[in-house]
Formats: sequence, C-alpha cells, structure tokens
Amino acid sequence: MGYSVLSARDATDALAIVSEQHVDLVLADIKMPGINGLELVRQVHEFAPDLPCIVVTGYGSAEHSVEALRAGAFWYLEKPFEQGHLDVVRRLVEQAIEVGRLKTENRILQSQLQAKYRFSNIVGNSAALRNVLDIVSKVADADSTVLVTGESGTGKELIARAIHFNSRRAGRMFVTVNCGAIPEHLLESELFGHVRGAFTNAVNHREGRFTLANEGTIFLDEIGDMSPSLQVKLLRVLQDGTFEPVGSSHSMTVDVRVIAATNQNLEEAIRERRFREDLYFRLNVIPIEVPPLRERPDDIPVLVSHFLEVASQEQGGTVEDISQEALELLCAHSWPGNVREIENLMERLVILGSGGEIQAKDLPPPFHQPAAQRPSAPVIPPSGLSFRDTVDDFEANLIRQALEQTQWNKNRAAQLLRMNRTTLLEKIKKKGLDQPER
Ligand SMILES: Nc1ncnc2c1ncn2[C@@H]1O[C@H](COP(=O)(O)OP(=O)(O)O)[C@@H](O)[C@H]1O
Ligand SMILES: [Mg+2]
Repeated sequence: MGYSVLSARDATDALAIVSEQHVDLVLADIKMPGINGLELVRQVHEFAPDLPCIVVTGYGSAEHSVEALRAGAFWYLEKPFEQGHLDVVRRLVEQAIEVGRLKTENRILQSQLQAKYRFSNIVGNSAALRNVLDIVSKVADADSTVLVTGESGTGKELIARAIHFNSRRAGRMFVTVNCGAIPEHLLESELFGHVRGAFTNAVNHREGRFTLANEGTIFLDEIGDMSPSLQVKLLRVLQDGTFEPVGSSHSMTVDVRVIAATNQNLEEAIRERRFREDLYFRLNVIPIEVPPLRERPDDIPVLVSHFLEVASQEQGGTVEDISQEALELLCAHSWPGNVREIENLMERLVILGSGGEIQAKDLPPPFHQPAAQRPSAPVIPPSGLSFRDTVDDFEANLIRQALEQTQWNKNRAAQLLRMNRTTLLEKIKKKGLDQPER
C-alpha cells in the first residue's frame, strides 16, 4: 500500500521500536509470546497517547474486539484475512493514520493556544491591570462564573481566554457567542441548538454552542444585549446546567463554565428593567472590571512596544523603535478605542513606515493637535472660597456643556464626559440641569 513497515517479533520488540522512532500506526496481534496485544496498546499509549493501534483478533471472538476497543485500540481486524478484505484493511489503515495525525495536530494547536494566552502575554505594568490579573489567576481554576466589564477594546475577551486556557478546561473548547451581533430570534438556536423542523429553515438538527462547549468554557460577549426571554433560559443553564433545544421537549445537560462580558452598566440596565436582577447576581459571582486605558496610562508605553514587536514580526521586519517625542504624544492621547486602538495604530505604523525609528510626524493628525484646553482651576482669593460650591459650579458647567453639545442626549453626554450614565443622571437631577421645558 506504499507504507514502510517495521516488524517486531513480540511486544517488547515493538515497544523498543516505538520508543525510538516515529511511527504512524501499530498493527498488533493479540496472542503473542510475553506481553499480549492488548497490554501492548496500553503501554504504547503511556508514552504515545495519539498513536493509533489496530488489533488483530480471532474470527468471531466478539469478546476480544470489545476488549481491544476498551484497551484503547482504534479498531480491530478479524483474522483469517481473505483477499477481499484488503480493501477494508486499506481504509482502516488510512483512517487510523488520519485520526492519529489530527490528534497530534490538535495537541500542538492546543499548546500553541495555551502559550498564546499565558498570563505573561497580557501586557501592562499598571497597578490596575496587575490587580485584574491577580483576580484572573485566582479564579482560573475555580469553576465559578465570571463577569468581565469594561469599555470596548480594553481586553475583556483576552482575559476570558486567559481564564479558560489556564483552567483545567484548557484542553476543551473555548466557544464565543456575541449576543449583540446575532438577531434575537436566531440567538436562542445558536446557543441551545434546534431540532429538525423547529422552525422554517430548520431542515436539520443542529447542535448549539452550549453543547459544543461541553466540559469547556462559553464566552457570552455583550450579555447586556440579550433579550429578557433568553435571559430566563440562560439563568436556568447557570443554575442546573440544563436547557432544551428549540423545538424539543427533551432537556439536555451540559457542564460548561460561563464567562460573560459587557460594556454596559448592568445595574442601570436592571433599573431600566432591561436586565434580570436574578441573572445578574448569578453571573456576577466573580466580577472583573477592566479599566479603560486612559485610567492606566502607565500601560501605554509597554503596550506600544509590545504591539510594535508583534506587528514587526508579522511583517517579517526588524522591530521598529519609536522616538521619545512620538511616545510622549501617544501617552498624552486618551485612547477611546483602548488597547485595540493602540494595536491597530502600531500595525498601521509598521506597515506604512519606512523601517526607521517612528517619528512624531509619522503619527496621524489627531495626535498633533494640542490636547483640549483644560479649564484652569480658579485662584483662591485672600478671603478664601467655598470648596464645595466651586467644585459644584465647575461640574455644573461641564455637564451643561455636554448636554448642549449632544442636544440633551444623556447617553451621549455621559460618553462625552466619560462618565457613568447613572452618575450623570443623578448629578443632573441634583443640580437641576434638566432640559428647559418648552
Ligand atoms: N493587556 C493587554 N496585553 C496585550 N494585548 C491586549 C491587552 N489588552 C487587550 N489586548 C489586545 O487588544 C485587542 C482588544 O482586546 P479584546 O479582548 O478583544 O477587547 P474587548 O473584548 O474588551 O473589546 C485584542 O487583540 C487583545 O489581544
Ligand atoms: Mg470584545
């Protein structure tokens, strides 16, 4: 069949060969002098767990075939062979080798993924980030539900992956579902699957993401966008691991760790009755809040050099340097897109750059504009001033400006001031700054 074959007199001989060189398949008889074929399979798998073994059993000995599979054989072949069986052997050998190859490949990919999501690849020196990583390393191996909050681009998904790949579930799937990106009527079947005929277009049975994530981790991104009726179903999975696929009355049980993320303020969503409080408490067992980059400027220089290095490597060039002046401009930036914005900008600079040190003039225009004029603090007159009143006036002024600029759209005003919407609403009420009645 075109394979090169090594033969061994007995199991001991076979083990010696397998431990010394790479083989793709073991084909072994059961009855051999010394160690038998089943024991050989077990011993081979101790040091080569992916190596497929096919065991040759006596004709009609059903017991032996069951034992062979139990011992970890890929499959069994009954002897005596007949000429007509050669096709079967050929297919079996091809399949066994293919499965072994896939297993090895999968193991390599897994370990690459695990290396990629090692904590050391989460870059940052700030106390805020260290604190986050400290929690992450503590919760990784617990099975508890984690809720990661933070603005877009702060690293929520990266953190979720780091938790998974540092947990005992690392060898299983990390499945992500973006609850905000999937239309509501499809999300349920995406999460829980559906049976054939559950709805128009449900031509076939389909497994949901929860089934795919069994024994692994599911990452529910933008959980704040989930509809209240689905929230009820999710709550049930969190409580007892059961759900019903769309159109089915049979419950399924899974063992899945849930990590949820949102850039919304869920407490506010609860007050507005968009989010169930019971689900919130169930999700928020371990809260992890990732601060926006502007609140941890210490991380900017290390992230800049990290992404310069990554982008240079991807482009196959030498790592580019950056001038002090350019770095200062980067550090003064407010990074509304957070880490993702740094990542994208560095990639762009490396691709467009001429290979030398990155200069201030290479940065896009927004970086050259002078930082917004900060209103200067009032000078204290000799007679002194009321700290509270002065601060109140200052705040009222900023809030009024933000409201005017956004035509009293409080969501956008809150964004403009990088303030929590609830806090803004409270302040507006307290200061009587609501939109003048018309
Ligand atoms: N501390 C960090 N160190 C290295 N890369 C980071 C860090 N934080 C975020 N990133 C990268 O920035 C990008 C955005 O992060 P992501 O986890 O997708 O953010 P979010 O889910 O909060 O929108 C990703 O490519 C991620 O790998
Ligand atoms: Mg994200």
